[in-house]
Amino acid sequence: MRGCSLRRGVAALAAVVVAAAVVTAAAGDHNFHRDFEAVWGKGNALFRDGGRVAELTLDKQTGTRLQSKDRFLFGRFDLEIKLVRGESAGTITSFYICSGGARHDEVDFEFLGNSSGEPYLLHTNIFSDGKGEREQQFVLWFDPTADFHTYSILWNPHNIILYIDGTPIRVFRNNEAYGVPFPARQPVHVFASIWDAEEWATQGGRVKTDWSRAPFVAAYRRYNVTNACVWDGGAGVARCTGGGKAGGGWMSQRMDWWSWMTLNWVRMNYMAYDYCSDRKRFPRRFPTECIVPIGRT
Ligand SMILES: *[C@@H]1O[C@H](CO)[C@@H](O)[C@H](O)[C@H]1NC(C)=O
Ligand SMILES: *[C@@H]1O[C@H](CO)[C@@H](O)[C@H](O)[C@H]1NC(C)=O
Repeated sequence: MRGCSLRRGVAALAAVVVAAAVVTAAAGDHNFHRDFEAVWGKGNALFRDGGRVAELTLDKQTGTRLQSKDRFLFGRFDLEIKLVRGESAGTITSFYICSGGARHDEVDFEFLGNSSGEPYLLHTNIFSDGKGEREQQFVLWFDPTADFHTYSILWNPHNIILYIDGTPIRVFRNNEAYGVPFPARQPVHVFASIWDAEEWATQGGRVKTDWSRAPFVAAYRRYNVTNACVWDGGAGVARCTGGGKAGGGWMSQRMDWWSWMTLNWVRMNYMAYDYCSDRKRFPRRFPTECIVPIGRT
């Protein structure tokens, strides 16, 4: 099982070291060199074009993982990704935020590769207080290997919204009033990775990684955290940008009527799996967040 807990010791140490540095990312000034470090498979993370593009490679020896130097407590995280072209069975390319710790919070975009010519599957999950098992899967309405597309995580005290090219595909509302833990106290790192998961990734594990087609390369660009609250490494939030602390803008953003319409369009046409309608898994009662009234928060 991968996860940001995997190399927690190393990651925690690194976080303390970089906390002292002031990281100021001007809008439009994307730089993986400055904002990330490779915390696993360093040799397979290549920064190109002055740090504006990151190429992550999976080969027989290793995959690789980038971790943001900053930590954040709430934010809007955008990243453009171009997935592995051609044969990609067994591979997982990801973009996620994760707090680490024993009862971690985590929000995942995981792109499950496929045999050449077969479609990718987007696997999403949300962990709060160490508990996940909130899988939703989607097929995409475009070829994610042909060009870059923008994948976004909006995380504020009201909800977590996942977007593809600005279209909302998933919402996890703050239902703490109903006893569902919501990520709101643990700062996260942003991660990007590629790794081998041939035991389960493709067609339930039936199709394995074809290493004769390695290396598998995914490209990332335009990492954007213009709107976020940066953690100061110890006591709390150092500063928020984009109107965060004042409670305006992204910090109070929720689903409006049009967002619900487009989300429902995605669910009706592109959703491949939803834990909230899996009766085999939940024969008695669906998890609380699946049944509390829509529109309450
Ligand atoms: C970054 O994202 C914000 C919205 O969250 C947007 O206003 C801004 O234009 C983006 N910047 C770049 C350089 O893409
Ligand atoms: C791979 O392609 C098959 C056949 O089109 C499809 O059923 C499956 O959902 C695709 N994705 C994965 C990750 O297996």
